[in-house]
Amino acid sequence: MKVAVVGATGMVGEVMLKVLAERNFPVTELIPVASERSIGKTITYKGNDFKVVGLETAVSMQPDIALFSAGGETSLEWAPRFAEVGTTVVDNSSAWRMDPTKKLVVPEINANELTKADKIIANPNCSTIQLVMALNPLHKTYKMKRVVVSTYQSVSGTGVKAVRQLENEIAGVDGEMAYPYPIGRNALPHCDVFEDNGYTKEEMKLAREPQKIMSDRTFSVSATAVRIPTAGGHSESVNVEFENDFDLADVRKLLHETPGVVVQDNTDTNTYPMPIFAHEKDEVFVGRIRRDETQPNTLNMWIVADNLRKGAATNTVQIAEYLIENSLV
Ligand SMILES: NC(=O)c1ccc[n+]([C@@H]2O[C@H](COP(=O)([O-])OP(=O)(O)OC[C@H]3O[C@@H](n4cnc5c(N)ncnc54)[C@H](OP(=O)(O)O)[C@@H]3O)[C@@H](O)[C@H]2O)c1
Repeated sequence: MKVAVVGATGMVGEVMLKVLAERNFPVTELIPVASERSIGKTITYKGNDFKVVGLETAVSMQPDIALFSAGGETSLEWAPRFAEVGTTVVDNSSAWRMDPTKKLVVPEINANELTKADKIIANPNCSTIQLVMALNPLHKTYKMKRVVVSTYQSVSGTGVKAVRQLENEIAGVDGEMAYPYPIGRNALPHCDVFEDNGYTKEEMKLAREPQKIMSDRTFSVSATAVRIPTAGGHSESVNVEFENDFDLADVRKLLHETPGVVVQDNTDTNTYPMPIFAHEKDEVFVGRIRRDETQPNTLNMWIVADNLRKGAATNTVQIAEYLIENSLV
């Protein structure tokens, strides 16, 4: 496969290259792509050096697959240009996610929707992916009515600039700010921009994307997204009301048997998911599983995953693997 990685110099792009190498993705030709600023820079893949090229050059090379993580505007303009020359694009930005003509895919849940005609495929938001990975098996069994989620999101979710802001603050150095306030020793109830309804765009992604991925509009999601000074992954406190009652042991068993999900849940041994353990892992970790004692058929849990891995690069590469395995590309 001739593979273009668009945004190869960014946080997600770097992890994308790592994941492609680790999983031995069948790359015969790698095309690293970034902005004009980075053209000619060298990136290393499997011990070999590659020069970063611009988007125009990359399109002219007609890759089989392009893995995009270069922001929404780049995707809106350039994903169709790649699709026109026959490239299948898997896009990490929010540009195409809610477009009814595009599939929004978490491979463990809905890769079977993909066909050869899908030339632009959307990767869900990082906090959505880890949420639906845990919710999907429970919804199938107990039928969800309403989900209330509060996120505790890593600075790596904002990109290179935000990680640098936190590092500068820790080192006591003045530098460029990615956020309107300091992030060290702080919590910002502000992920992405505010919309007219008072929610942030990140919160509305969490409200809308799960329904599309799970092809079900009978449940609703209400979200509060908060940025905290961690780097290893996003955490989520999740309250789920079901139509049917559940047994806690069955819930743990269901999650334990779900591919890609790991249950870490033992209060006797202080075992619960944390970003420092999820960092650089591909799985979604679930713990603090307990009954909400204030209303019937309601569960509380805590979900953690590396936002750059399953929340972005790993999910994207898994989509690309599915396309190859099923001769869709
Ligand atoms: N971070 C996460 O957890 C996460 C999770 C899921 C999805 N995403 C999405 O993935 C995308 C990238 O996020 P990130 O965190 O990796 O950001 P980042 O660290 O800021 O990296 C951005 C990348 O995009 C490239 N780029 C920017 N403008 C470009 C342009 N006009 N043409 C070509 N390349 C351009 C940059 O190239 P230069 O180095 O040349 O500037 C860089 O490689 C965003 O759409 C984000 O929403 C991020």
